[in-house]
This record gives sequence, C-alpha cells and structure tokens, in this order.
Amino acid sequence: MIIQDFIPQPYPKSIKNGSFTWSSPSNIALVKYWGKKQDQIPENPSISFTLNNCKTTTSLSFSELESDSGYSFEVFLDGEKKDDFKPKIETFFKRVEAYLPFLKDYQFKIETVNTFPHSSGIASSASGMSALALCLMSIEKELIGDISQEDFIQKASFLARLGSGSACRSLEGDLVLWGKHVDIEGSSDLFGVKYPYEVHQDFQNYQDTILLVDKGEKQVSSTVGHNLMHGHPFAAERFKQANTNLSAMVSILKDGDLDAFVALVESEALTLHAMMMTSMPYFILMKPNTLEIINKIWAFRRLSGSKVCFTLDAGANVHVLYPEREKSVVMEFIQNELVAFCQKGQYINDKIGFGAKQS
Ligand code: PMV
Repeated sequence: MIIQDFIPQPYPKSIKNGSFTWSSPSNIALVKYWGKKQDQIPENPSISFTLNNCKTTTSLSFSELESDSGYSFEVFLDGEKKDDFKPKIETFFKRVEAYLPFLKDYQFKIETVNTFPHSSGIASSASGMSALALCLMSIEKELIGDISQEDFIQKASFLARLGSGSACRSLEGDLVLWGKHVDIEGSSDLFGVKYPYEVHQDFQNYQDTILLVDKGEKQVSSTVGHNLMHGHPFAAERFKQANTNLSAMVSILKDGDLDAFVALVESEALTLHAMMMTSMPYFILMKPNTLEIINKIWAFRRLSGSKVCFTLDAGANVHVLYPEREKSVVMEFIQNELVAFCQKGQYINDKIGFGAKQS
C-alpha cells in the first residue's frame, strides 16, 4: 500500500445524518517507538500488547451542513464540553482531510468517555484517536456502500496514526506491529498490522497491572520528545537496536522464552527513558517511586524466580507485566510491596486484549 491508495474515489452514496459509536483500547509497547519522520512515519518499527480494560468509547454524531465553512465540531468528555481538546482534533482533521473528503460537509458532535481516570497519567491519545478514526471510517463505509473488513481496519489504523502514532496499534489485538521491518511480512510504516507469526501460549492472557505513580500532567509531551530524537547523538544506534530487538522478539514470542522477554522488555523501557535523559534539552519523566518499584521488582524476581517484569510509557507510571499463571502471587507482591509507591494507592488491573469494538 502507498499513501495515495487511501484517497477515496468520489463517493457513490450520500447520507444526511447519523451516529456511530466505537470502543477502542489503549496499548503498551514492548519494543518502543520514539522518534519520527515527517507525517508521523516512525523512525523504527514497534510492537505492542493491546490492552483490554483501559479504553475510550467515542460516539460521533453528524448532520449535513448547508454551506462549507471549515470544520464544525464540538467535543465532550464525560458529558462536559471540552474546548481545550479542539486544537488537537482540528490538527487531526487537517491531516486526514485528503483521505476523508467529507469532513467539511458535516457538523460533528464527538462524545467521549474513558474507562480510566482522565487524570491518571495514562495516555488516552491511543484509545481516543483510534476510536475517533473508527467512527469516521463508519461514515465513510456508508458513503462508499461497501468496504471489506480488512480495508476498513487498515484505513482506520492509517488515520489513527495521523492522530497519534501509537494509536495505529490499538485497533486489533492481541499483538500489533507498526513500522516496516525487513523480516516481517506485511509490516508497514503507514498502519499497524496484527502480528503475523506464531505466539507461545505463555503469552496468552498476559497480565498488565498499571501502577499509577504520578497522575500529573507530563512536563514534556510525546510530540516534543519525538522531535528531540532529531540530531540526538544516539539516535541512529537506537533505531538500529529497535530493529534488532524486534527480530529477537519474533523468536522469543515463538519459543515462550520468558527470561529473554523480561530482559528485552525492561531494556526497551530503560532505553526509551535513556533517550529522554540524553536529549538536548534533557528531561526525566520517571519519579523516585518509579525507581523504587523497579528495584522491588528486581528483588522479587531474584528471590522468587517469578517472570514478572516492568515496562514504561512516556511517563512515571509502571506497567507490571506477568504471565496469567503468576496472577495470584504477583498480585500479592503488588499489594504488599508496590501499592505503597502509587499515588493514593491506585493501580489498574488490565490484560492483553483483542482490539476495538463497535457498539
Ligand atoms: O503515540 P505517541 O506520539 O504518543 O508516542 C508514544 C510513544 C511511546 O508510548 C513512548 C512508545 C510507544 O511505542 O507507544
């Protein structure tokens, strides 16, 4: 596929008004995307677990406008009007308009609800942008009359990427790959694809308990962080390493080599933060409690032989990953030793999921 393939032919049908609702989950990267080229093209491929419980439900209502006067939309979060969300959506509309030429023909009402607290520090951009992209694709499906499920999801992922890069990995599950990798057939910089190879049963129902360490606004946004990879002294090596790590991940996932999984996933998390700390200007998103938790996990693993490990997003919260069979012992460890480091003792139990659903 090339970008031009996503520009539709003139629509054969018309539609006056309607409403579509999609729920889309968040995802957590195992091999991280950090650094992008123009038009949200990633500098390296990434792979993520789709989550199950952390999700956004978005309803998009639309009615035909009489005259074409730019984008017309309102945004609501949990029933409250959110004008501060408008600039991000306006940017998204501008980026996708060539691929969805109906955007100026309608007045939209975007109503969105997250299952996780808005101020939890969990990024809602992946779940939010993918849910919105799916609602827009539902309108396009009506205008085209027919579109295959595969083409529908692929274009929704292509659009979601233009909203927030990692959002393109939230449409399907349970493992999604985004970014061209020489060894992985079908991989693309333009959209996420379901991981196409064999996965060992130990990864089925993998658990992710998200420890809410810091719920404040991030001091440095992902957009700024990605941009700081331009001219970064270690950028070229990092992008090469991500490709190598993804190749290694293919064997790890097939063989169920949990020790190698732990080492690779934790190294990826710390490398992401090392890139932040070695940017110019440099910055640190981890908090003291992030490090306390990491040290506790390492000590617990040494003592118990557990395969529990951590990963991090662009923030201070810690994702604790573990196989389903370790659920009770790891939950006991979290309760006894880690909850004390969470803000107000808060955490979210999640697990690997299977992608977005229409309702
Ligand atoms: O999708 P963005 O632009 O918010 O970037 C997210 C990048 C990380 O979450 C840090 C890593 C990843 O691959 O999801």
